[in-house]
Amino acid sequence: MCPGCDPILRHGGISVEKYRSVAIDGPAGAGKSTLARQAARELGFLYVDTGAIYRTVALRVLRAGADASDPAQVVPLLEGLDIRMDYGPDGEQRMFLGGEDVSRAIRENRVSGLASQVSAIPEVRAFLLDFQRRQAREHDVIMDGRDIGTVVLPNADVKVFLTAAPEARAMRRVKDLEARGQSAGFETVLAEIRERDARDENRPVAPLRRAEDAVLLDTSELNLAQSLRALLDIIEERLRG
Ligand code: DC
Repeated sequence: MCPGCDPILRHGGISVEKYRSVAIDGPAGAGKSTLARQAARELGFLYVDTGAIYRTVALRVLRAGADASDPAQVVPLLEGLDIRMDYGPDGEQRMFLGGEDVSRAIRENRVSGLASQVSAIPEVRAFLLDFQRRQAREHDVIMDGRDIGTVVLPNADVKVFLTAAPEARAMRRVKDLEARGQSAGFETVLAEIRERDARDENRPVAPLRRAEDAVLLDTSELNLAQSLRALLDIIEERLRG
């Protein structure tokens, strides 16, 4: 174990569990997962992608043929829900549903929409709260999502609100699609981003908002390497302090 990484700090003979946690929140398309994954690798922390957990619940709902927007159909499915998280030899987070590796299935486009719907159901959020917190009780983590600094880990050692202007996010998305041989008009993508922002910010449960003590990192004018450097600077400075 690296020096200073001892999880048990001794205070006057009392053992206090102490893992470090970094919460990264922000809108879709700001580069959270890419940056959080790379920062976690640099620091030797576990990267927890909480969106993947919501996506796994959404897949369960899809397979049950239930309506993801109807709590009366979704909530009963939570009972007996068998979700597990694991890390492959490459360090990538994998999700299991009923023992089956669903890491690829949860990335399908139709699951994205359903994840957005199930994540608006308070019972789903409450159900997943402990699941997410447990990771931070057992590891040094960088966790990304929408409500990590505000709800899941309000006492995180470092909180970052990672964002970029809608235009910058739209441009990145268009280039991303082009690189995959797909095309999309800038204006259409921009409109979708604005619409999703409005939905995330205005939902009644755990709306997307910056925690008061979160450091704002706007990557509109930064490339990937610059964004990563800026993120690591914030984390390292706060963890030292
Ligand atoms: O980050 P993502 O696109 O994989 O997230 C999937 C959905 O889950 C997205 O609609 C927002 C929601 N989500 C959430 O409400 N809270 C989180 N902590 C993470 C994701």
